[in-house]
Formats: sequence, C-alpha cells, structure tokens
Amino acid sequence: MEEKKYKKYTVTAALPYANGPLHIGHIAGAYLPADIYVRFLRESGRDVAFICGSDEHGAAITIKAQKEGVTPKQVIDKFHKINKETFEEFGIDFSIYHRTSAPIHHETAQDFFKVLNEKKKFTIDESEQYYDQEANQFLADRYIVGECPKCGNESAYGDQCEKCGSSLVPTDLINPKSTITGSAPILKKTKHWYLPLNDHEEWVNDWITKGELDGKYHHNPKEWKKHVLGQCKSWIDGGLQPRPMTRDLEWGVKVPLEGADGKVLYVWLDAPIGYISATKEWAKEAGKNWEDYWKNEDTKLVHFIGKDNIVFHCIIFPIILKSYGDGFLLPNNIPANEFLNLEGNKLSTSRNWAVWVHEYLNDFPGKQDELRYVLNSNAPENKDSEFTWKDYQAKVNNELVAILGNFVNRAIVLTNKYFNGDVPVRGELAEYDKEIINKIAEVPEKVEKLIENYRFKEAQFEVMNLARIGNKYLADTEPWKLIKEDPEIVKTILNIALQLTANLGVLLTPFLPKTAKKIQYMVGLRNPKWNKAGRVDLLYPYDKLGIPELLFSKIEDSQIEYQIKKLEKAKVASNVPAEPVKEPTTFDDFTQMDIRVGTILHAEKVPKTKKLLKLQVDTGVDKRTIVSGIAEFFKPEEIIGLQVCVLANLEPRKIKGINSEGMILMAEDRDGSLSFIAPRKKVTNGGVVR
Ligand code: MF3
Ligand code: ZN
Repeated sequence: MEEKKYKKYTVTAALPYANGPLHIGHIAGAYLPADIYVRFLRESGRDVAFICGSDEHGAAITIKAQKEGVTPKQVIDKFHKINKETFEEFGIDFSIYHRTSAPIHHETAQDFFKVLNEKKKFTIDESEQYYDQEANQFLADRYIVGECPKCGNESAYGDQCEKCGSSLVPTDLINPKSTITGSAPILKKTKHWYLPLNDHEEWVNDWITKGELDGKYHHNPKEWKKHVLGQCKSWIDGGLQPRPMTRDLEWGVKVPLEGADGKVLYVWLDAPIGYISATKEWAKEAGKNWEDYWKNEDTKLVHFIGKDNIVFHCIIFPIILKSYGDGFLLPNNIPANEFLNLEGNKLSTSRNWAVWVHEYLNDFPGKQDELRYVLNSNAPENKDSEFTWKDYQAKVNNELVAILGNFVNRAIVLTNKYFNGDVPVRGELAEYDKEIINKIAEVPEKVEKLIENYRFKEAQFEVMNLARIGNKYLADTEPWKLIKEDPEIVKTILNIALQLTANLGVLLTPFLPKTAKKIQYMVGLRNPKWNKAGRVDLLYPYDKLGIPELLFSKIEDSQIEYQIKKLEKAKVASNVPAEPVKEPTTFDDFTQMDIRVGTILHAEKVPKTKKLLKLQVDTGVDKRTIVSGIAEFFKPEEIIGLQVCVLANLEPRKIKGINSEGMILMAEDRDGSLSFIAPRKKVTNGGVVR
C-alpha cells in the first residue's frame, strides 16, 4: 500500500496526572520522543499541533489529596503549574499545555458521553460492585488493589495492572482490599454505563492487525512497534469485555444525564478526550480550525505514551472515537515506549526512587540538553532500559564534551585564529575531503527515515556520528601543523569543518535544541533550513562567525557522588512508612509456628516465571522442596549452601504445579528488596527458632 503524504499532524503526549512532579521515566517514556518527532516535523516545514496537558481527575488525584489533607483542586493547581514549568524549562515545546479541569474540557467530554448515550453505544447495567463500609464509598480504580489474575502482581489496581498492562474490573482482582481503609470490601448494587468493547472486536482487530478501517487502507501495521502490536493482539485474542465508563465519585466530569447524580465519567473516558478539548483551546488562540486536526483524512494522528497506557490508546479511545463518528480520525500510530529503570530498580514515586526533572534542572542549571541526550541514547524504545548516574557522566564527558563540543570548538577557534573569524574559501578537494562531503550528504535522509520510523535513538546516533567524523577529520588532517607550509589547504579543511558544523547546527535541532541554536549562532548560520542539510554551502566564504562559547562542560565525580547519595538517602529515609504493627497475638499462637534452621541444597528457576525459585532444603528433619518468590533478588547459584530459616509446619501448597512444603523467611526492606533471615553462626540443621 502506498504511503500517504500528510498535510497536518496532530501529535499527542499522554496527559500526566497532576498529582506529583515529573521524573525521568515520564520524560523518556513519552515526552522526549514526542518532542523530537515534533521538532523534526516543524523543522521540515510541517503543520503540527503538539498537544499535552494535565490529567486532573480520577483516583490518582483524590487519593493524593486525601493523603495530604488538602482538596483535589489544591493538588491539581500545584502540580499543573510545576509540571507546565518543568516541561518548558526542559525544552518540551507543546503547542498547548492544557488541563482537564477547564470548562471547555468538561463540555467536550460531556458531549461525547451524551452522543454515545443517544447513539445507544453504552449498555446500562445495575450490578454488585465493591463497597467500603467504613469509608462509605464504592471502590474502583486506584481505590482497590488486589492480585492480578493474569500475572500475579499483588498490587494491581481496580482498572488496570500496571505490571502486565492488563485492563481489569475490580471483580477480577484476587483478594481485593480497599486502599482507603485496608478493609475487605462488601458488594453493593449500583448502576453504571458500560462500553461493550466486545461489540467492536472485529473492526478493532482488522484495524490494528491489518491496518484496515471500513474496508479501506488506514495504516501499515508493520510500522507499529512489535510490543505494542503484541499487547493489542493478546487482548483481542483473549476476548474484549464491557468496561464501565462511569463512577460513583464526586471528583470528575459529571455524567450529563438526569438521574445520574453522584456519578462522574471514568477518568480514562474523559482524559483522552482532553487531547481534543486542548486542541480546541489551542486552535481558538492560534486562529485555526480544530477540526482540521481531528477530522481531516490528510491529518496524521500520533499518540506518544508509556507502555502502561497502551490498552487505553489502542483499543478503548479508538472505540470511543469511532462510536462517536462524525469523521473523527483514528491514530496512525501509537509508538509507546517501555519503561526506564533507575540504578537497577523500577522508578517509584511513592518510594522516591526517581530523578525528578525539576530537581535535576536545579542541580545542573542549563544542562537540559545533556539530560535529553542521555535519556534519548538509552531510550526504552523496544525494551526496558536503564539510567545510571555513572553512565550519564560518561556520556556527557566522553561524547558531548569530548566529541561534539571539542569538534565544534576546534573548528571555530582555528578559524578565528588563522582567518580572523571569516569562513575561508574552499579550494581544490583532495580524496579525503570528498569523502567527508559525501558523508555529510548522506546523513539527513538517514536521520529523516529513522525519525519517521520512531527510531530516535539511532537517529541521534547518526547525527552524533557526523560530529565523530568531523573530529576525526581534524585529527587526521592536522590543520594546526599545515598552516605554516600550506595555508590554502587549511582554508579548504576549515571550510569543510565549518560546513559540517553548520549541518550539525541544523540536524541537532530535534534532539538538542538549545545546543543547536548555539551552534547556529557561533557559525553565523542565520537562516537554518532542514531541507538544506547535507549540503556544504550552508555558509558562504567571508561569512562572519559569531562569538564562540563552550557547548558543554565536564560532569565532575563529586556531582555524581552527590546524586547517588541523594538516591541512597531516598531509599533509606524513604517516604514509605514502616508497616504498622499488627493486632496483638498470644505466645501460644506464636509457638504454633515451627521455624527451623535449614540449608539450601539446590536451587533453580521455575520455568516461565519471573519471581519463583524451586529450592531443595535440608531442614535437619527431612529434605524437602520449597517454592520461594525470591528470583528477582537472588541467582540460584549464589544461594546454594546458605543457611536460612524455614517455616516448617506450613501446609503444603501447589505452586505452578510444584508441591511446596514450607516457606523461607525473608526480611523485606522498604524498597521491596529481600534479605534472608539466617543464624549469625552455623547452627546444625533442624535447630529451632523461638
Ligand atoms: N494520566 C495518565 C497516566 O499518567 C495518562 C493519561 S493519557 C490520556 O498514566 F490519554 F488519557 F490523556
Ligand atoms: Zn498483571
């Protein structure tokens, strides 16, 4: 199928909840890739609406407010402001950063609800739902947690498991608990509006897996990321289920119907509509027609999100848009990223295990491009990836300072020194000059193709490679040695080096916008044009260079040590309070538990599980098999021979088909990591713990 040429682009980045500040995981997941893509589109002359804003409804907000003893409004006002400013400072250049508390959003979301209701796109059902008797509240979404029936994650929410991405309803959860009071909920009747996703299975399947919509070509599914397609296919194959689109809550967009008092729209119904209401607001201010960006076949709609948002953007929101009809477009692509980890652990807001972007900008003033560079170099484009401070330091010092900064500086300083800051005339070309010129010519198309395929990491690498080539060119030709005997050759070399620098000034724009601007200024490139990149006539002979300044400076060890200490502190003094002490028990009850010292004889991973190890343990009384959920923290070969404590009279239980006879006692740190409980000196196996 042929690829269409698009006239307009609507690019959205997931609306972050206004319940906390932004960390590097948010940036690497959605906002940086979106910004790179949009900057590229704008540079190459395309008409783009780049849409984002705060997601201000839902339990994420009200739970935070309850915790802090403030109103939801106070929470959203505070974090909307902080996050908007952080994005600006970090150079994420949205067309608009809107908010879902705005009246135009409430109107738009209510209109969607009314139209879907009139078109009979909902089913209304009165059913038993979980209810917290102590808090007098129905429990949905983040108000209820339990074990995920799909992956076993024990803190899955009522609407979604963030670990495996499954979309859930509260009654799917195993051992559900209220997050307000911790109590087990009762069931109580209530009426809700459901979106019967199951009615849409067929066209959703054609649309996602074949790229066909209404029997016509829509997009090329090969352009979608494998992990996105994979998640979608597994949901569709598993059978789609009706999802409730309303909630019994105060905070949110009111259900716009008679007899629906005390009910609001589900946050995942209203939030994506936020992209549309934000576009309306932007269009009003910018003198545009919002419908051009949402209803025109020549417009390309792209959603940038993290992987925990895939089901909502690939299945639920498209069903909402298509059910509404009226010419709404479906996304051409949803290039979701996977997760970024930090220093070996999952990023966690509640445990303060994060690099907060506003804190980074405070600690490293002016160094937003450095963080953009490192985050994009390690972007979790197709699998989870990792940020470490040591790697940050290495990438800044060895790549930005030593290669890019060094090359640009040399080219400019040498021109100032030998030719008084005028771009020298290029003379006759030697073979190696021609090679460089050819290489410059190849880069723009490569970079464009990569960006258009959402491969921003490789795209950035190609641009940096140009700086590498420039660096090597100067090192090989050594103009500082030639200047005495052959100034004409030096003119040619520096002309080419400066043309290469000017190309960097253009091509770096999507990735390192601030640095690109500096380079443009320093080489005197007044009218940078993406479509001229690749050429070596961006600068004319006798053009005046601007005043040079260093692009980057080294990150010192002490700065990195400070950051690592800060993280360690967060870990220890973690905001997670110690678990409260349980109800009193009796000594007799305690002595019921038969705890013994044993030795691990053998250990192996339980196939197809992430967490489980199968252990052979000598308890002094017998040798038995115990399945233990410690595989994330220990390798089998490391623990063979260790003495541990075993709860020996626990009823045997089948886990993954293995009969597990007992339990290994572990101490859990506040970060969730585990440590064995073991005697200080060797104790003969079978020794009693009391
Ligand atoms: N607030 C959601 C999150 O942080 C994302 C909402 S994206 C939108 O996971 F589409 F709903 F806007
Ligand atoms: Zn799960």
